[in-house]
Amino acid sequence: MALSVSSSSSISASGFSRSSQELKAPQFGSFKLLDRPTKFVNVSSQRRCAVKPLNAEPKRNGSVAPLAATIAAPEIAEKVEVEEDYEKLAKELANGSPLEIMDKALEKFGDDIAIAFSGAEDVALIEYAKLTGRPFRVFSLDTGRLNPETYHFFDQVEKHYGIRIEYMFPDAVEVQALVRNKGLFSFYEDGHQECCRVRKVRPLRRALKGLRAWITGQRKDQSPGTRSEIPVVQVDPVFEGLDGGAGSLIKWNPMANVEGQDVWKFLRTMDVPVNSLHSKGYISIGCEPCTRPVLPGQHEREGRWWWEDATAKECGLHKGNLKQGDEAQLNGNGNGAAHANGAATVADIFNSENLVNLSRPGIENLLKLENRKEPWLVVLYAPWCQFCQGMEASYVELADKLAGSGVKVGKFRADGDQKEFSKQELQLGSFPTILFFPKHSSRPIKYPSEKRDVDSLMTFVNALR
Ligand code: ADX
Ligand code: SF4
Repeated sequence: MALSVSSSSSISASGFSRSSQELKAPQFGSFKLLDRPTKFVNVSSQRRCAVKPLNAEPKRNGSVAPLAATIAAPEIAEKVEVEEDYEKLAKELANGSPLEIMDKALEKFGDDIAIAFSGAEDVALIEYAKLTGRPFRVFSLDTGRLNPETYHFFDQVEKHYGIRIEYMFPDAVEVQALVRNKGLFSFYEDGHQECCRVRKVRPLRRALKGLRAWITGQRKDQSPGTRSEIPVVQVDPVFEGLDGGAGSLIKWNPMANVEGQDVWKFLRTMDVPVNSLHSKGYISIGCEPCTRPVLPGQHEREGRWWWEDATAKECGLHKGNLKQGDEAQLNGNGNGAAHANGAATVADIFNSENLVNLSRPGIENLLKLENRKEPWLVVLYAPWCQFCQGMEASYVELADKLAGSGVKVGKFRADGDQKEFSKQELQLGSFPTILFFPKHSSRPIKYPSEKRDVDSLMTFVNALR
């Protein structure tokens, strides 16, 4: 059933939308926002003002909304009450250009919507917003762990567009507790979820509580595992907006259907400033310790949280993209491999006569070099895991291809009781983990890529056999 929420807005002569709650000073994170401007003003003179601490009195007509627009929006509309069906709207806008979608979003939500800007190629969102000629707001989650290049880029973007980015910072006490307890790089040990929760997700939740809608730069091609179905607009499945409760926040993804290369064509054509990290091989950009450049041909997502080897690389900002099985992977410490009990009700997978089903003694034996007569490729899996299910066909095909080649192919069910052992002894991060046991080396080698098609797996085997 389609989810509906109501939005009410009116558009002033300046093109600035005002909500039905306009007298209430909106809250943006732990800050109380100043009231919205009623007409365009000289941007440069407004740039350095902005937010007040939570308990401060709201000041009327101060500018927190970046007034990058140079053209007044053309229409004057009466106040309208609209009951919107966002599933229907998403279908109608599915073939719309990012500019069209952005324009619709800004028109509908005015000052109650903001662009979530990561400091990467989603600067395209800001360019599109500027091109609509409407006022717009931009916020960014400053995790405290971004690259210096990204901070410089933020500054450059502010200057280029004459805007003020509304930064959201993590709660100091929470960061302090995390870092004092676990050190500065705990995410390499027990997964990125905890740190992301403190440094990104909670600040985001605070930011969104001051809005009715937000705009992200998510694209389907960014992550085949988690983003392949994102619509251009949706009722946010996870976060709440200003009014609170399910359905109180709308999420716009104007770039959902655009491919990475076309974003870059747009950025070049419009001469938009870009993060200098891109010229150093970075594609997707997040925090400094959790992002690295990728090699030619690698998927951009492989540069993020690479040690976790999971297709479900969502830090929580876009948790709604995850399906049940993926979420199970992200539970617990977030480093995958966590499922309630490895439910016996799920049918087993990777069934083939060319695949050996290894028991615990079987794989322990394999760990002992002297008992290894030939190289082995083994998948550590859980039958309920959607990514394991996703690679089933290619792994079975690989096993058929390798039959009689001297390389054995096996599987080891590593959830439930076997999980701890697998984490300790078999480098299990998340499901699936693929290991190659070479003939002449004692330690299994973990397959480092997320590409699990037959050719990629075969290349890995051939490189090591
Ligand atoms: S993430 O969830 O893996 O970190 P990704 O880097 O792909 O997200 O970015 C997708 C979109 O999420 C961005 O286009 C942006 O809208 C939003 N986003 C990601 N990181 C931030 C950030 N630090 N601040 C604001 N928005 C962000
Ligand atoms: Fe922490 Fe890394 Fe997540 Fe940034 S991306 S918040 S450093 S775990």
